[in-house]
Amino acid sequence: MNNKKNINRLNELLSGKNAFEILEYFLKDFEGKVAFSTSLGAEDQAIIKMIADIDKNADIFTLDTGRLFPETYDLLDITTKKYDLKIRVMFPDPARVEEMVNTKGINLFYDSIENRKLCCHIRKIEPLKRAFQGLDAWICGLRREQSVTRKDIQVVEWDDNNGLIKVNPLIEWTESQVWNYIKLNHIPYNKLHDTGFPSIGCQPCTRAVMPGEDIRAGRWWWENPETRECGLHKRN
Ligand code: ADX
Ligand code: SF4
Repeated sequence: MNNKKNINRLNELLSGKNAFEILEYFLKDFEGKVAFSTSLGAEDQAIIKMIADIDKNADIFTLDTGRLFPETYDLLDITTKKYDLKIRVMFPDPARVEEMVNTKGINLFYDSIENRKLCCHIRKIEPLKRAFQGLDAWICGLRREQSVTRKDIQVVEWDDNNGLIKVNPLIEWTESQVWNYIKLNHIPYNKLHDTGFPSIGCQPCTRAVMPGEDIRAGRWWWENPETRECGLHKRN
């Protein structure tokens, strides 16, 4: 099967299906070849609950950059225990991190966009590529509403950078839909969400936002909105 050519067919097949049905389809039809990539953000926690209801043996992974918030590590532990799931933790190559930090500084990301992208590449993109070994599809928690860089994403896309199918079951969800689902189902979530952090990434590159501010305004806040992606979701 040529997965790239199947994107339109898959979008047609899944049109009108809800997030649970989309997940169910991929976890069954791509069994052993699909993984969910979680940052333990609010959207990801909603997806984890659905995955736990569909298949507790599903492949789930997270990228531990080494610079996450303590609250994120706590949530990782709470979530795996609550839902009796395994989450693979991917780490960056220590030799590359050592070289980067010792040549460019521990907080190099504040010095230039180039440095910031290098850090994201070493701490996120390389481990992501390793996590993809043997997979045909990955599931993530992107929503259209999140950013100018995400407004035209599709439920099923061809991820040309990584050569596999990308599935976005929550693209149509609003922020309040995510939170209603979390509250209704008593889903554990990152405590930082209660203190002004709608979107959470690495600790040095995420800050709280003011009421009414854009939900991703606290991510790489010193950069322009157009560059505020770490490369995980690069599109052609
Ligand atoms: S990011 O690119 O700006 O960091 P964001 O935090 O909005 O992404 O998360 C969007 C989706 O990317 C998440 O729902 C998740 O699927 C994936 N993702 C982001 N960060 C990670 C991570 N550290 N580990 C695994 N998946 C991640
Ligand atoms: Fe490095 Fe910041 Fe990117 Fe995390 S978000 S990998 S700390 S530049």
